[in-house]
Amino acid sequence: MIVEEFITKSYPKTIEEGVVTWESPSNIALVKYWGKKEHQIPANPSISFTLSHCKTITTLEFSEKENKIDFSFDVFLNDEQKDDFKPKIETFFKRIEAYLPFLKHYHFVIKTKNTFPHSSGIASSASGMSALALCLTSIDRMLSKNHENLNKSFFNKKASFLARLGSGSACRSIEGSLVAWGKHEAFTESSDLYGVKYPFEVHENFKNYRDTILLVDKGEKQVSSTVGHGLMHNHPFADERFKQAHKNLNDLIAVFKSGDLDAFIKIVESEALTLHAMMMTSMPYFILMKPNTLQIINKIWAYREKTNSKVCFTLDAGANVHMLYPESEAENINQFINNELVEHCQNGQYINDKIGLGAKLL
Ligand code: PMV
Repeated sequence: MIVEEFITKSYPKTIEEGVVTWESPSNIALVKYWGKKEHQIPANPSISFTLSHCKTITTLEFSEKENKIDFSFDVFLNDEQKDDFKPKIETFFKRIEAYLPFLKHYHFVIKTKNTFPHSSGIASSASGMSALALCLTSIDRMLSKNHENLNKSFFNKKASFLARLGSGSACRSIEGSLVAWGKHEAFTESSDLYGVKYPFEVHENFKNYRDTILLVDKGEKQVSSTVGHGLMHNHPFADERFKQAHKNLNDLIAVFKSGDLDAFIKIVESEALTLHAMMMTSMPYFILMKPNTLQIINKIWAYREKTNSKVCFTLDAGANVHMLYPESEAENINQFINNELVEHCQNGQYINDKIGLGAKLL
């Protein structure tokens, strides 16, 4: 699909007021999106597991207003007014207005909450922006006369398309349980504009795959993703990195089919370290891992060596560690975490999550 197909030209219906609620999960990238072009177009394709428990629940109340010349909204996080969220949402509205011409016709009350602790260092932008995009796509659908031009597949694409304009990785949070985003030659349906459900065979080994997030550093992000993506412009290794992402995604297709977890581990851990290597070798340069991040990584490697476990780690653009492992290892890994890893977590905190089915209308 092309950009123009996401523009709603006019609405045959009018609705004075209404309310809609969506819950949308976070996701964890296996092949990382790092670097973008204009309009949130990714510099390379990425793929992620959709999570189950780490999610945002957003209720959007809308009521028609007289003045239709500017945006009007209030935002609440856990029932507390959050004016500091407004600039980001205003920017989002400006970017998506062309696709949702009703945006200036209503006053919105956005009520949002996360199931994971606020400022836990877990990015809430993927779940937050996708939940808001879904609420807005629902209103788009309510105002459209015949629902068939907003069938489920188009609805998901449009929500993902809009979520991308809020935060790139948010476009991978609409569906489950594996979502690819960014044009890749092996996926005919893939697009830079929205995420698509992984279309090929996935081995039983990945069923209910686990993700335990070890909270190493709960502080504000040291580098915002906008700055981080920007660091890939004129980065000396950018071209090679983008090529590598294409190859890793291609190699994962065979891994998902065969269930080869050793090969999975190699790709996933190399992706995480490459993401951080890109940040260490950009100008300016950053080290986003903390001493505890390295302690945990070394302990995971030692544990794997000792036990033949298939646990591996991945990282986002921060110090927290995601431990990925098969469901069959859940009990052992839980023991390992409690015996050896909690001491490296801030206040001993970690979150158990697993691969999930995507966003839900409530
Ligand atoms: O969606 P953004 O712009 O916050 O970028 C997120 C990038 C990573 O989380 C580091 C990787 C990814 O693909 O999710």
